[in-house]
Amino acid sequence: MNVHVERIQKRDFDAVFTLLRTSLPDFGEIDAENFRKDFEKNFREHEQDTHYFVARHEDGRVMGLVGYGREDLSADTYYLGWFVIDENVQRSGIGETLLKLVEKELIQGGRARQLIVREWDQGANDQAARFYVKNGFEKIAVLPEYWDDWADMAIYRKRFKTSQKQSEGNRSSLAQNSPPMLA
Ligand SMILES: CC(C)(COP(=O)(O)OP(=O)(O)OC[C@H]1O[C@@H](n2cnc3c(N)ncnc32)[C@H](O)[C@@H]1OP(=O)(O)O)[C@@H](O)C(=O)NCCC(=O)NCCS
Repeated sequence: MNVHVERIQKRDFDAVFTLLRTSLPDFGEIDAENFRKDFEKNFREHEQDTHYFVARHEDGRVMGLVGYGREDLSADTYYLGWFVIDENVQRSGIGETLLKLVEKELIQGGRARQLIVREWDQGANDQAARFYVKNGFEKIAVLPEYWDDWADMAIYRKRFKTSQKQSEGNRSSLAQNSPPMLA
């Protein structure tokens, strides 16, 4: 299918709202309200909030949405959210196209350490979980009963830069394992 990705425009609001309602499992009233606020804020204060992109069919229809932004108070941790592809065209590569664009922007920006996504943990058969793992994310945490008593939160992460802790660890184990220096 021929889709191209572009920054969202205000006129897309109704279409993306319909998309969220029809294709995002359990998109409820609270989500709807949050999305509306976030979306409106996005157009008021471009700098700091979520950056949205849509995948648009050549006939103009919106087939997918993704958003990303920097986590407040973090040292360049970014989140991915509002990610949904029209249910009639899922599994045809549009999600990957949108994710790649987000990653390209983050890498070109040069600051992002990592990209985080929070989701409703539905186990290994979960389509979103499969998607994230296939695209290089690792599951790093589960917060039990976060969304509801029966709905845990899973956190997936993709790192763009090696953790300083990790590289310090590597340096010290290298130092330990390296042969003694000859004076
Ligand atoms: C998750 C989602 C965004 C992925 O986008 P997509 O365009 O369908 O995914 P792509 O076509 O780029 O990638 C396909 C891969 O995703 C995974 N996947 C997507 N849909 C799947 C399904 N129904 N069953 C199993 N795996 C699936 C698989 O890993 C698949 O690879 P494969 O076909 O080689 O097995 C999309 O399926 C979606 O909108 N799902 C509902 C909303 C949602 O869960 N959003 C994420 C909230 S955190």
